[in-house]
Amino acid sequence: MPELVDLRAVEHAYRTKAGPVPALGPLDLRVAAGEFVVVVGPSGSGKSTLLRVLAGFERPSTGDITLLGHPPVPGRDVGVVFQQPRLFPWRTVAGNIGAALRWADVPKPNRPARTAELLSSVGLGDLGTRRIWEISGGQQQRVAIARALAAQPRLLLMDEPFAALDALTRERLQEDVRSLAEGDRAVVFVTHSVDEAVFLGTRIIVLTDRPGRIALDLPIDLPRHAVPADELRGSPQYAALRGEVAAAVRATVS
Ligand SMILES: Nc1ncnc2c1ncn2[C@@H]1O[C@H](COP(=O)(O)OP(=O)(O)OP(=O)(O)O)[C@@H](O)[C@H]1O
Ligand SMILES: [Mg+2]
Repeated sequence: MPELVDLRAVEHAYRTKAGPVPALGPLDLRVAAGEFVVVVGPSGSGKSTLLRVLAGFERPSTGDITLLGHPPVPGRDVGVVFQQPRLFPWRTVAGNIGAALRWADVPKPNRPARTAELLSSVGLGDLGTRRIWEISGGQQQRVAIARALAAQPRLLLMDEPFAALDALTRERLQEDVRSLAEGDRAVVFVTHSVDEAVFLGTRIIVLTDRPGRIALDLPIDLPRHAVPADELRGSPQYAALRGEVAAAVRATVS
């Protein structure tokens, strides 16, 4: 069985008029199904570049990347959620999901049931007929997550998806997305929040300053499903991990 994600000696530099800008690597990374990998690091350290490479939007300058044994093809295998939901404002909630199902080649007769299923999986079961401007920012981000799941991707990439939300909405969404990396799917999630990283990750990767290399690769072994979210956030184990990750992030910029 090929590894879900396999990056070997990957480096990426952007080409600009002033010359190449090294943004990422060299970096080796393997991710297995079921992992929820959270990437943290200073601004400009190459986190979004890593996601773009994983999504197949950018081909790395050097090194090899494979998803399930083949180079990533944008829109296939991989779902992406950005900081802003980037929905079609003129469509309804269900219409946005329907469009994604069409791109994913889901036959038309199957789309209404799949739409209902996807919306209910993100807690929006009854909002299908609303327009995008008639729902809140947190609900819009839920639609964006449902849309990213439309093609049943094995890999879900999330780039600071909750950064623009208020604290309470953010906590609720964090609790809901923890289960997205179960079964045969993996998630790679970028955040600036160490707290969010420890709460969500089964593994945390801290990137160095640009070009981003792996400064820390830390498995997080918290009893996340066995105890209520509040209890987890208040536990000494959680505080210790948060301290360890925060120190590693500080060390990248000193
Ligand atoms: N299209 C581009 N052309 C040239 N340089 C770029 C381009 N996109 C990003 N960069 C540069 O590559 C580096 C990494 O950028 P990237 O967006 O991956 O950082 P990041 O870790 O996601 O930052 P942030 O936390 O601010 O989102 C930065 O120095 C950035 O200026
Ligand atoms: Mg970024």
